[in-house]
Amino acid sequence: MLKTTEYLLLLAFISLSYDNAVFRPMAAKVDLYNNAYGNYEADVYRRIRTFTYGQDFGQTSWVSNEESHEIPALLGLRSNSHVLEIGCGSGLYALSLAESVSCEVLGLDVNEFAVKNANRLATQAGISDRVRFQTCDVSKPLPFQSACFDAAFSNDVICHIPDRLGLLRELHRVLKPGGKLLLSDALVIGGIISHQEIAARSSIGYYLFSPPGENQRQLTEAGFSVLDAKDTTASAVEISARWRQGRENSKVELIALEGEMNFEGLQQFLRCVQALASERRLLRYLYLAQKSQQ
Ligand SMILES: C[S@@+](CC[C@H](N)C(=O)[O-])C[C@H]1O[C@@H](n2cnc3c(N)ncnc32)[C@H](O)[C@@H]1O
Repeated sequence: MLKTTEYLLLLAFISLSYDNAVFRPMAAKVDLYNNAYGNYEADVYRRIRTFTYGQDFGQTSWVSNEESHEIPALLGLRSNSHVLEIGCGSGLYALSLAESVSCEVLGLDVNEFAVKNANRLATQAGISDRVRFQTCDVSKPLPFQSACFDAAFSNDVICHIPDRLGLLRELHRVLKPGGKLLLSDALVIGGIISHQEIAARSSIGYYLFSPPGENQRQLTEAGFSVLDAKDTTASAVEISARWRQGRENSKVELIALEGEMNFEGLQQFLRCVQALASERRLLRYLYLAQKSQQ
């Protein structure tokens, strides 16, 4: 028969082994964005993006190729459209959009490596007159007049913004009447999640997890009509699996650039995204909303 202390020790050992098997405690913070944008041109990062997404748009998100190609049609973009991208990352998205539709795009991101890279790409492509990027923390009021954009989009960024409703209200303000907004959120709660999983899933920065229906409710409160809410969780499953595999294939090169701790931390982050999304405990949704015509 086990004594109480032996029993407690055994329980602690079992739970520790379980933690170790699933998500080991790693460095408190893991860097994704500085590495991805700062090393954008490195061949190894380009190879991994192509392996992960099939087509390199400089992504650091869970947007499938199919979804990327649908953006102009969903937003109803035309050659005279003036488009705002929130959290533009490396900038290649905005540039591809501007090249395919011949519209004007302004991309905002808080990460200076991202904005520097994006402006460099715009200059290289010779379209810096109509595609521009600005360092901007979108958790603060947007530095634009009201009703000056025809459409706006944001791939997997709102999860990082503390006052989501504030940002949605700002987006509503800067859109012209009838303007459309497309945005995704990969952190909609679908089931039970442990504190270790929340820690691993949040290891790369500030994150908000939201209950189902909350994004639609906040979009409505900000003044939008919600036209569609599409479950795109399968994209997060597939992309996280391929991204982790692509990184594993280039482990030695990545460790030289990122360091071992960060490499392992990001692998664990991606493993966690894949596990939570494949078990539908965290869901990804793509929302299409519109400001009224009046
Ligand atoms: C998941 S990445 C998505 C990047 C890009 N949209 C894509 O699809 O690849 C999230 C982006 O949001 C940016 N971000 C996070 N907090 C922000 C803030 N407060 N203001 C502006 N951008 C922010 C990050 O720097 C990062 O580039």
